This record gives sequence, structure tokens and C-alpha cells, in this order.
Amino acid sequence: MIQVWVGPSQIAGQGLFAVQAFAPGTRILPYIGEKITAPERARRLAAGNTYIFHLNYRYALDGQTLANTARYINHSCDPNCVVEQDAAILWIVARRPIRPGEELSFQYGYDLQHYRDNPCHCGASTCCGYILAPQYWPLLAPPRAAS
Ligand SMILES: C[S@@+](CC[C@H](N)C(=O)[O-])C[C@H]1O[C@@H](n2cnc3c(N)ncnc32)[C@H](O)[C@@H]1O
Ligand SMILES: [Zn+2]
Repeated sequence: MIQVWVGPSQIAGQGLFAVQAFAPGTRILPYIGEKITAPERARRLAAGNTYIFHLNYRYALDGQTLANTARYINHSCDPNCVVEQDAAILWIVARRPIRPGEELSFQYGYDLQHYRDNPCHCGASTCCGYILAPQYWPLLAPPRAAS
């Protein structure tokens, strides 16, 4: 049985950690949630729900349920996991070798809307500074040189 634990994270609040080593490609756990429509997604996001996973332009998954252990996974700009869809199931999959004790992370893929409200504390050397999908990184203003 695959083992993970919830504990304090250096990224944000609580995080999810590997108890055992994972090889790349390992399906670690599913992201469980209620399937909701795009208008319902917008309503719940506006109400402050941070557990919504965007599926496509019509649907999203609301992972704000105790059954969803993956809800503790924080965002990283250099994540060790990816989210893969297999039929109706979203899987958290290792994208590189993961050591016991390592915090699990994936790229949340947020768009540019309100990106300044979501500063990133992932600590990666390649961190773009915000919780933001990589395709938007070139649009960010370059940091000002110290004068
Ligand atoms: C799905 S929850 C992740 C679990 C959360 N840390 C907790 O304690 O419940 C998503 C929220 O965690 C925080 N978070 C996740 N990744 C982050 C990051 N890289 N930098 C800053 N905050 C982050 C943000 O507040 C985000 O809205
Ligand atoms: Zn980051």
C-alpha cells in the first residue's frame, strides 16, 4: 500500500509527504472530488475554495472533502508530481524519483487572473514568484535592478 502523511510544510500550512520512495510514473493517490460545472466553479472560487481542480472549460473537480488526502498537496514551480487523468480519475503521479520524507507538489496551473494575490513560496530555484502556469511566466515583469 502506498503511504503518505500530512504534516507542517515549509511551503504553506499543511503539506503531503512521502513515507516511502516513489519511482517516476508511480500513481501515488487519486485527487477525489465532486464534479462541478464551470459556473459552479466560479461561485466556489469566489467564495474562497482553494481545492478546485480545473478539468476543462465545462467542468472542474472540487476536492474540498475529507476523503481527498491529495487536497494537502502544495504548489511548486518545480514540482515532483504531475496530475494525470485516466478516464474519470485524476491521479497524482511522480514525475521524478521521490525520496522518503519529501513533500509532494504539483503545478497548480493558475492563469494570470489575480496572480498577484497568489505569491509562491515553493522555494524552487526556478520559482517565478507566483502560483502561475509556466506559459504565463514570460509575461511577468522582470525584477527591477537594485539602484
Ligand atoms: C489545496 S491547498 C494546499 C494545502 C494547504 N497548504 C493547507 O494547509 O490546507 C492550496 C492553498 O495552499 C497554499 N499554497 C499552496 N502552495 C503554495 C505555494 N507554493 N506558495 C504559497 N502558498 C501555497 C495557498 O494558500 C493555496 O490556496
Ligand atoms: Zn514557486
